[in-house]
Amino acid sequence: MNSQEQDKEKEVTIKVMKDGPLVIQGPITLTYANGTESRKMAFASLCRCGESNNMPFCDGYHRKAGFCSET
Ligand code: FES
Repeated sequence: MNSQEQDKEKEVTIKVMKDGPLVIQGPITLTYANGTESRKMAFASLCRCGESNNMPFCDGYHRKAGFCSET
């Protein structure tokens, strides 16, 4: 594997889902407001509708809530 391929593997990408969460592909480490860190993750889907029962993660409730985003 060359260095460009290695850099690409380490690249974090964030995809804004239409009327849904932010899908982050890592590796990432999530830090909560109180400073604690969750485990390192390769993937996370973060709520942006504010209706999840499993914050900060999306639990799919945005569909029932009728979340509609402009982006
Ligand atoms: S974006 Fe999915 S529950 Fe909020």
